[in-house]
Amino acid sequence: MTKPFAESSEQNKEAILAVLRDVFVAPGNILEIGSGTGQHAIFFSAQLPHLTWQPTELADNLPGIIAWIADTELTNIKPPIELDVCCACWPVVAVDEVFSANTVHIMGWPQVEHLFRGVGQTLVADGVFCLYGPFNYEGHYTSDSNAHFDAWLKARDPVSGIRDIEALGQLAEQSGLSLWRDYPMPANNHILVWRKMRCP
Ligand SMILES: C[S@@+](CC[C@H](N)C(=O)[O-])C[C@H]1O[C@@H](n2cnc3c(N)ncnc32)[C@H](O)[C@@H]1O
Repeated sequence: MTKPFAESSEQNKEAILAVLRDVFVAPGNILEIGSGTGQHAIFFSAQLPHLTWQPTELADNLPGIIAWIADTELTNIKPPIELDVCCACWPVVAVDEVFSANTVHIMGWPQVEHLFRGVGQTLVADGVFCLYGPFNYEGHYTSDSNAHFDAWLKARDPVSGIRDIEALGQLAEQSGLSLWRDYPMPANNHILVWRKMRCP
């Protein structure tokens, strides 16, 4: 099949990689949620050979990711598996790190709640969750372009939209995650990094 292509993934991958190099230092298993076309999974697993990358997506998007992987000789990327964050039982356990890009403004809020609950259950203690995308702070857009993007998202799907970091923080806390770092990124995006707290 023709490999799906997203220009945005090409544009943001180098800046995201710089942060992942800073955060994902030790060897480990990484779960990617909402891998999209698979371009990020291919690029990051090639650049970060100490990680074993597990792409996941909704069923309809798996063939595209398989096509990207088939064109590589990478040994540290696994075949993609179906993961809808709403499913009660995620098909992965005890992962060292989770990465997701541009997903929480696409999902409805109940899906975002499921995402954080699942990440909290799936990460090992001290594991980290990196979430890339546009976010609001104290209810405010960080740029006019994000305000326009949010209006565009909501016109397309009223349940979608740019999320408040404070609301995500509440979900994270309920899931046993503590905000560790916040990296400003190009084009008014951020990478939020939470760490799974150890049980008291
Ligand atoms: C804007 S795309 C981002 C894709 C890729 N991460 C990127 O940055 O290019 C959002 C992705 O979230 C996925 N997604 C939406 N709802 C989902 C759900 N309930 N569970 C898992 N993934 C979901 C979509 O299939 C889509 O590929």
